[in-house]
Amino acid sequence: MMGDRQSGLCVIAPTSEDTESCGAALAPLVKPGDTVLLSGDLGTGKTTFTQGLARALGVEGPVTSPTFVLVHSYHTKAGWDLLHADVWRVEQLQEVVDLAIPELVEEGAAAVIEWGERAAPALARDCLHVTIEFADASAAAPPAPGAGASPVGPGGPRRLQFRAEGPNWQERVRQLSDRLAKGS
Ligand SMILES: Nc1ncnc2c1ncn2[C@@H]1O[C@H](COP(=O)(O)OP(=O)(O)OP(=O)(O)O)[C@@H](O)[C@H]1O
Ligand SMILES: [Mg+2]
Repeated sequence: MMGDRQSGLCVIAPTSEDTESCGAALAPLVKPGDTVLLSGDLGTGKTTFTQGLARALGVEGPVTSPTFVLVHSYHTKAGWDLLHADVWRVEQLQEVVDLAIPELVEEGAAAVIEWGERAAPALARDCLHVTIEFADASAAAPPAPGAGASPVGPGGPRRLQFRAEGPNWQERVRQLSDRLAKGS
C-alpha cells in the first residue's frame, strides 16, 4: 500500500518480509557515493530494511546489527562496499566524525546509517531519509466488522517514509515509487 506523505513516498509494510522487500526495492537505485539515513524508534525495522537491501546487493553471509561495533562493511556484488552503521550508542558527534563515513563514501562506498538523524550534521547533506514507524493494523488491512481498535506496536505493520534531501535522490524516490507499485 503506497501514498504520498509530506511530499515523499509512504509505504505500508504488513510484515517483516515486506520491510525487507522495501530495502530490496531500493537496492538497484543505490550507488557508490550514496548516504541513506534510517530513522525510527527502537525495533521498528531499520536493521531488517538494511538486511533486505544488502541481500539484494548480493552481500553474502549474515547481515547483523552493528549496534556495538558502530559500523559493518560488506562487499556488494557490484564491487563497492556497503557500510552499515548504527549510531544509537554514540554520545558525541565526534565519535561519528571518527568513523570517517563521508570520507569512505567519497572514496566509493555507500552508507546506510541507523539513527542517522542523530548524526546528520556529521554526514552528507544530500541523502535519502527513510523513516520507519509502527502503524495501526488497519493501515495494512481494513478492520473486520465490529473489531476494536488494533494495537500499534512491535507486532503490527510498519509505515516507511522515503524523503529525498537534496537533488541527488529526488528522481530516485520517484523511481522507487514505480518499482514498489509494480511489486518489484
Ligand atoms: N513490517 C513489519 N511487521 C512486523 N514486524 C516487523 C516488520 N519489520 C520488522 N519487523 C520486526 O521488528 C523487529 C525489530 O526489527 P529490527 O531489529 O530491524 O529493528 P531496528 O529498528 O533495527 O531496531 P533497533 O532500534 O534496536 O536497531 C524484528 O523482529 C523484525 O522482524
Ligand atoms: Mg537495528
